[in-house]
Amino acid sequence: MDFATRETYREHLRERKEHHFGYPYNLSFSYSEHAYLLDYLINNLGDPYRPSNYGQDSREFEKSVVSYFSKLWLFEDCWGYITSSGTEGNLAALIYGKVSLDNPVVYYSKDTHYSIGKGCRAYSLESVPVDSQPHGEIDYGSLQSALYEHRNRDAIIICNISTTFRGAYDSAPKILSLCENAGIARGRVFLHGDGALGGMIMPFVERADELYQVKGSEFFDSISVSGHKMPGLPVPCGVILARKSCVEKFGREIEYLNSTDTTLNGSRNGLAAVLLFHSLTGVSVHEWRKTIQTCLELAGYLSRSLNERGVRATINKYSNTVCFKKPTEPFIKKWQLACLKDEAHAIIMPNHGREQIDIFASELAAEFPRK
Ligand SMILES: Cc1ncc(COP(=O)(O)O)c(C=O)c1O
Repeated sequence: MDFATRETYREHLRERKEHHFGYPYNLSFSYSEHAYLLDYLINNLGDPYRPSNYGQDSREFEKSVVSYFSKLWLFEDCWGYITSSGTEGNLAALIYGKVSLDNPVVYYSKDTHYSIGKGCRAYSLESVPVDSQPHGEIDYGSLQSALYEHRNRDAIIICNISTTFRGAYDSAPKILSLCENAGIARGRVFLHGDGALGGMIMPFVERADELYQVKGSEFFDSISVSGHKMPGLPVPCGVILARKSCVEKFGREIEYLNSTDTTLNGSRNGLAAVLLFHSLTGVSVHEWRKTIQTCLELAGYLSRSLNERGVRATINKYSNTVCFKKPTEPFIKKWQLACLKDEAHAIIMPNHGREQIDIFASELAAEFPRK
């Protein structure tokens, strides 16, 4: 084992934390004041709203987190829980959609996170990946044709609230109007908002275009977010909110738990619930707005500064993700970049400052000397 001592492992983590631009993780946090939690097995077994016989739980924190997102996403009359990640949120959404509808087809753009394709394979759900526009938003013409072709089948549709690679947003009202055009009534549609990153960005954007706003119960049947992305946590986790009626169809009473089995996982991370609660509520909504605004501004700054240095960079509206040509392997490893074919991206999170961005931009420009 390389990390023979605690000090060498800590040093490895510290160094990797200093050189990170590729994944949407807010690394700017410290939870050491909550270290007492590590002496307990905090497990939220069963439904968040039905205490089980196991008492070392954190349901009160979990319910508060759900309520925080129901306000943030304007999602009324919803149910929710703390998942193990954004992936679990997507997998749970597919299940809630499947049980609510009759033999549905799943539609998603080719820029959608791979967890959706995985869920379709795992649950034997027929799926139709549709084209994306070059900037990553779903191609509404392709979606319209696909919906029309399968108009006799119910529909689960994935609406990206910031795509994985380009940070693009799909429009929920546009998607719903396409269903109507194809003659698929609202009651035959389950619309899931995958807001792994953007679920914690878009609600804080001032004067965002109506078409992309997160209006929970008006448009969506479920929405999910990753807890370790924008909120910043030392353990992966996430949150899903869903319409109560969709979840009730899935739940089963379990005598062994003395609760209802409504969640995808069995044992669930109660530690994450406590920390996520502190992360979200430790600062005001106004502070979160400022933090997120700064990330968007700094991402714009990185994009401009790369273009000025002769490195073509692109960025979507309301996004903190900057895409550019894939650099060399040592550079990718040094800065832990995520790549797709011949491109890479940098995602600006609250732990990035202007000084570090300048260093990154100048090192990246040196990868592509002007001819
Ligand atoms: C749009 C989108 N959905 C889902 C996920 C999966 O989230 P997690 O890594 O928390 O499982 C990601 C991760 O990057 C993502 O970008």
